[in-house]
Amino acid sequence: MCGIVAYVGNREAAPLILKGLKRLEYRGYDSAGIALLNGDGLKIYKKKGKVADLEALIADKVLHATIGIGHTRWATHGEPNDVNAHPHYSFGKRLAIIHNGIIENYSTIKQSLIKKGYEFQSQTDTEVLVNFIEDIQKNKNCSTEEAVRLALQEVVGAYAIVVMDAETPGQLVAARKGSPLVIGVGENEFFFASDATPIIEYTKDVVYLNDYEIAVVNDEGLNIKNLENQEKDPFIQTVELELEAIEKGGYDHFMLKEIFEQPRSIADCMRGRLNADEALILLGGLRNHIDKLAKAKRIVFVACGTSWHAGLVGEYLFEELARINVEVEYASEFRYRNPIIKEGDFIIAISQSGETADTLAALELAKSKGAVILGVCNVVGSSISRITDAGVYTHAGPEIGVASTKAFTAQVTVLTLMAIATAKAKGTINEDTFRRLLFEMAAIPQKVEQILQKAEEIKDISKLFTFASNFIFLGRGLNFPVALEGALKLKEISYIHAEGYPAAEMKHGPIALIDEDMPVVFIATKDSSYEKVVSNIQEVKARKGRVIAIVSEGDVDVKKMVDFAIEIPNTHEILMPLLTVVPLQLLSYYIAVMRGRNVDQPRNLAKSVTVE
Ligand code: M6R
Repeated sequence: MCGIVAYVGNREAAPLILKGLKRLEYRGYDSAGIALLNGDGLKIYKKKGKVADLEALIADKVLHATIGIGHTRWATHGEPNDVNAHPHYSFGKRLAIIHNGIIENYSTIKQSLIKKGYEFQSQTDTEVLVNFIEDIQKNKNCSTEEAVRLALQEVVGAYAIVVMDAETPGQLVAARKGSPLVIGVGENEFFFASDATPIIEYTKDVVYLNDYEIAVVNDEGLNIKNLENQEKDPFIQTVELELEAIEKGGYDHFMLKEIFEQPRSIADCMRGRLNADEALILLGGLRNHIDKLAKAKRIVFVACGTSWHAGLVGEYLFEELARINVEVEYASEFRYRNPIIKEGDFIIAISQSGETADTLAALELAKSKGAVILGVCNVVGSSISRITDAGVYTHAGPEIGVASTKAFTAQVTVLTLMAIATAKAKGTINEDTFRRLLFEMAAIPQKVEQILQKAEEIKDISKLFTFASNFIFLGRGLNFPVALEGALKLKEISYIHAEGYPAAEMKHGPIALIDEDMPVVFIATKDSSYEKVVSNIQEVKARKGRVIAIVSEGDVDVKKMVDFAIEIPNTHEILMPLLTVVPLQLLSYYIAVMRGRNVDQPRNLAKSVTVE
């Protein structure tokens, strides 16, 4: 979604902001722009397309300024074009604004401004907001900060904004509700950004602005108030994020880097939490909750996309190991359904970014109904991690590729640890099983490494399917969510239509699609449904479907039946998703690269979906 970068200090603002916007490119966008303020006044440059197009636009301009605001826009109101791109001037050209989010009541405000003579250049809700602020400023003859505050009291919707006023050089006013905004605090300089990645090159000291807060930075420093005008103490934290973690490190794409990071990210996720030798699981963030979780009447996972698939894996894990009734909900459905939440229910949000608008709203709803809310998040300090009662970070490190890979395996790792720990506390698994699971888990990173060594083999198979128009992914049990995830990965980065199904469900419809042009990916590892999956493979082969199968090391039967088999190491059945998903990630990646797709920033997609 939209990305915000703003700066005030002593450095040249333009190159710093452009570099920051590039660091936010992974979030997904369709246009970019920058506003700079100097002795010549307030100037805005914006362009449809990539930040590189904006750079080309301003290449021959003199842009000396030490204050500026920049934006990458993911279109909501109005098509992606130069005019709708941010920043937006106010009507009187005194103010410039960048905005992430949606102003829901923009239409009513716009009508009243039109009656007062305001004219609009763009179709955006953002231009309405900046004119609304300007109108208040004129009528009340007040400061920008005050005008922003009064305007936001009238606004319905979500926002992270930064406003620059031509008449107050050296000052930026920012506010947030529902969309993330981080303030970097340097020596006599301040940064604003949608996440910490554009900031860490300059300072590791940051403040995460809270909902309904307004921040003003100027030569007097940083001042934060809430919408009721009460002062707030800025809580400065140190971000533990190194620059190399957000760079490609020699890989062609972030997605490939992140797939290859999985042995390390899974190990990082288990570090200090799993001790197989001493038969211990320690989840610090849930120290006071595991015993309560063991008594839970019901667990509801709320999530979107890949994180929802991780939730489905979690459902199998908690039901199988801890014998707890689990439901997995799309956050967007849950939040609008007046869900029944009873005492003893645990609502667990799963989110890489921790900023997904629907997941956040689902949690807020559950909280308002008195539920205990937990979070499984990757981004430290994110909104979800801050509103939950307790939670576990996945520690996968920054995930820049839009297609989630290492975040998924880290989520599944956390959910597995949680399920095993809960089962142990509840007494639904015996000591032998508990110990065996811990040893098997500890071996997962090395097994993922073994699978990654097959990358060339998977690349060769991918070549043969580069021009397929459709794909079906099938699996059973814990591998059904993996089939869904395999299909999602392929469709989002290659734009090939792909469906994931439980293998047994094929006969209830999708089998009609099978012919010699239909590639079918089976997850056919040696587990309790192996024989049944073998039958499903036969049904596809009988209809001439082309089958790629993910099989267990040493498999003979499936290998004889299928067109291509990718062998993976054996592990305990409940840990299989951590392995079976990896070849599917590579398959999608190579097919997308061979089709010439923009793998890290697929069209229309945003890394962090901060609007509903
Ligand atoms: O940050 P979140 O985990 O909450 O994001 C949820 C989805 O938007 C995300 O998983 C999306 O489906 C990815 N593009 C999947 O690769």
